[in-house]
Amino acid sequence: MKRVLPGPRPGFFSGSGAHFRRDQLGFYEACAREYGDVVETRMGPFRILLIYHPDAIEELLVTRNRDFIKSPGVRLLRPLLGDGLLLSEGQTWLRQRRLMQPAFHRQRIAGYGDVMSAFTERHIAGWQVGATVDVHAEMMALTQAIVGKTLFDADVSGDAHDATQAAKVLAEDFGARLRSFRMVPLWFPTPRNLRSRRAVRRLDGVVDRIIAERVASHADRGDLLSMLVQAQDADDGTRMSARQLRDEVMTIYIAGHETTAVALSWAWYLLAQHPDADAQLAEEVRDVLGGRAPAVADLPRLKYAEMVIMESLRLYPPAYGLGRQATTASEIAGQRVGRGDIFIVPTWVIHRDRRSFEEPESFRPERWAKGLAQSLPRFAYFPFGGGPRQCIGNGFALMEAVLILAAVAQRFRLSLVAGQRIVPTPYVTLRPEPGIRVQLARRS
Ligand code: HEM
Repeated sequence: MKRVLPGPRPGFFSGSGAHFRRDQLGFYEACAREYGDVVETRMGPFRILLIYHPDAIEELLVTRNRDFIKSPGVRLLRPLLGDGLLLSEGQTWLRQRRLMQPAFHRQRIAGYGDVMSAFTERHIAGWQVGATVDVHAEMMALTQAIVGKTLFDADVSGDAHDATQAAKVLAEDFGARLRSFRMVPLWFPTPRNLRSRRAVRRLDGVVDRIIAERVASHADRGDLLSMLVQAQDADDGTRMSARQLRDEVMTIYIAGHETTAVALSWAWYLLAQHPDADAQLAEEVRDVLGGRAPAVADLPRLKYAEMVIMESLRLYPPAYGLGRQATTASEIAGQRVGRGDIFIVPTWVIHRDRRSFEEPESFRPERWAKGLAQSLPRFAYFPFGGGPRQCIGNGFALMEAVLILAAVAQRFRLSLVAGQRIVPTPYVTLRPEPGIRVQLARRS
């Protein structure tokens, strides 16, 4: 297709790859600044369109979503997530989404609140005043244990350290592949590939054990895992294949903890730098909870905590960009789109657009107090995506994040250890690298 849109001039061989490789977020920012709302470029063999306008994003994710599938970049997760809900398409995706949706209904997730709160209290009972911890690692361990218990009724706390290490290896590998457009298949025995395959096997060990225990027990616990194990195909009565079951459990296990852990990590980072916001949060939890553990019934009154999470998700969206690929000729923002064209929606940039947010770089939770979310275009703020492929765990994650934030803020004040350089690093999610070291003080 002929080039018609503004965008960085492709280099002879690698297109815009060099800048993208060096600084992915900076590349997204520069393209918006210099070329506007729909930007065209090439990377490797692909024609790429970067989309920054809320209306065009709505076309891509909602109105014309049938013309698009997940992008090759997102599909790099296939060796780990297989054909689970994040990556499947068409009829498989629809059947599995319908099957799993009941586990995420509002009433259902309200029932998970007690576990979220109790696990948080148990986790921070091990924290010592005056100690230094990596709060990102702590949040990863906690959200992992919570997803394991609530959705699979499994105790994965013993696996947390190993699993986190393995997930990190894979996240780094994903980031490197995404940026390099390196298509060396995973079966090819390079040292990096061997390391990644070992990491997949380690995570498979956790997931296989979760499934095997349930299958052996023959119990119907009424949770997501039982729904998956017992799912019968309505037409022919066959069970889900072992492979599909593994892919779904792995997808929920990974997608269900890393994103929320990253969101909470950035919230602690921001609160540590904004003492006024931190004090306001502490006051709210004192008023609402008066020293007891938070429960689902408290959520309507934990308003400031919710705004802190929303504002953290705006400034540091764990899913910092979305990717799609056209399966047919289509049209977006009045522009013709060819089959195979790739679309990137850089959430990171759109969440900092001054057309939508005053002082967009500032952390101001109170901006959400007076109906801002309702007054914005639908795709000016979308940490959970949108359209049919919107995050299935949206409600689960928000509830979990607010409960954890309140429970921790009630007992501890977290301050950043001096001299750290913490960089938002776009792997699968926007991780804080190399972690966030905080010192724990008692909340007076
Ligand atoms: C703050 C936390 C979270 C964030 C920011 C987040 C973000 C997202 C986004 C942006 C998407 C859409 C991706 C796309 O359109 O390409 C997505 C999809 C998905 N998320 Fe989340 N997520 C979070 C928590 C969770 C949790 C807790 C779970 C499960 C327990 C989960 C499971 C999934 C699944 C399975 C999908 C694929 C849904 C589908 O395609 O039908 N996520 N998430």
